[in-house]
Amino acid sequence: MAKISVGVLGATGMVGQNYIALLNDHPWFEVRYVAASPRSAGKKYKDAVAGRWQLAKTYAPPVGEIMVEDANDVSRAVAAFKRGDCSFVFSALEMGKDETRALEEAYAAAGIPVVSNASAHRWTPDVPMLIAEVNHQHADIIPTQQKARGWNRGFIVVKPNCSIQSYMAPVHALAKAGYTAERIIVSTLQAVSGAGYPGVPSLDMIDNIVPYIGGEEEKSEKEPLKIFGTIENGVFQNAALPKISAHCNRVPVTDGHTACVSLEFGAKKPSSMEEIIKIWTTYRSLPQELDLPMAPKQPIIYREENDRPQPRKDRDTDKAMAVVIGRLRPCNVFDIRFTALSHNTVRGAAGGGILSAELLKHKGYLG
Ligand SMILES: NC(=O)c1ccc[n+]([C@@H]2O[C@H](COP(=O)([O-])OP(=O)(O)OC[C@H]3O[C@@H](n4cnc5c(N)ncnc54)[C@H](OP(=O)(O)O)[C@@H]3O)[C@@H](O)[C@H]2O)c1
Repeated sequence: MAKISVGVLGATGMVGQNYIALLNDHPWFEVRYVAASPRSAGKKYKDAVAGRWQLAKTYAPPVGEIMVEDANDVSRAVAAFKRGDCSFVFSALEMGKDETRALEEAYAAAGIPVVSNASAHRWTPDVPMLIAEVNHQHADIIPTQQKARGWNRGFIVVKPNCSIQSYMAPVHALAKAGYTAERIIVSTLQAVSGAGYPGVPSLDMIDNIVPYIGGEEEKSEKEPLKIFGTIENGVFQNAALPKISAHCNRVPVTDGHTACVSLEFGAKKPSSMEEIIKIWTTYRSLPQELDLPMAPKQPIIYREENDRPQPRKDRDTDKAMAVVIGRLRPCNVFDIRFTALSHNTVRGAAGGGILSAELLKHKGYLG
């Protein structure tokens, strides 16, 4: 099978580098187009990332030779599409929200589908915010989105914020089993790579914790409601629950966002901690026959040790795509409490975006 050519917008940044590395040897997709800011445009990719490549794994040599384009110039991507080098794009741009929103729409209008990590379109009413296992059926809005905007081939789907990734699948698994979360209090311990590169100044991070990440608590409290929402009359209607109170902290960890969660169920409550662990470890939401290359074999791993999960030891579990949970116990105020971990730049960003694209290909929207 010939591979589908893909472009990465923001290819030189933290998330963009993860896309480039994760797409090395991908069985379905091949990077043939890269774009970033005008600062990087006109350089070979290997020169644009020289001295700022952040990952242990490197990029494929042919990608290093690709000339970086200006992501603001959609006509360059359209030309690449016409010569077969850019069938769709992953967007990992970090620029103003209004500029990102307009630019991603310009790609979609020009016939180039956009799978985005940026927050600009998360609240656009007809744009799905996908976590493949949790709400893959939300991709079904794509034909409605295309029709409403007069787009032929292009569309936009987005990923949610990386800080909520570790507890959305566990909450969804419990809801699928009939135990709906009504109230959640969560404290996150978020890695510095979540702020991009160069990110938070080292003097703010060494020997320190910063108890504020701009906009993150609002995103953590609102985004789950769209993800658990429904499609009605061509737009998303948010779920009413769970009500969430979030405390988001930046901690001196390179990769991996940890969340300490207290959760209260509605009237129907699980009978025991053992029942909850069984629900989590047997959770399979994507149909098995899909066999998507980036999907973790077991989306939720439970660690019995009382000092796990830990970012350094657990973030890379199953291609860094699994959520790792531990410390499930009764809560004195709500019903249960637990600690959850997910890799922010892989599961929470590039890996999650690739999994969304695999799902979209399976559903016939990409190719
Ligand atoms: N880091 C994470 O864990 C994470 C997780 C989920 C979502 N996200 C989201 O993913 C996106 C990328 O985040 P990041 O952490 O990778 O940021 P980053 O390291 O700062 O990278 C930003 C990228 O955007 C490009 N860029 C900046 N200004 C531009 C402009 N005016 N025009 C065109 N391109 C421009 C940069 O190109 P140059 O290199 O040429 O400057 C670079 O490629 C953001 O929207 C972020 O919110 C990040």
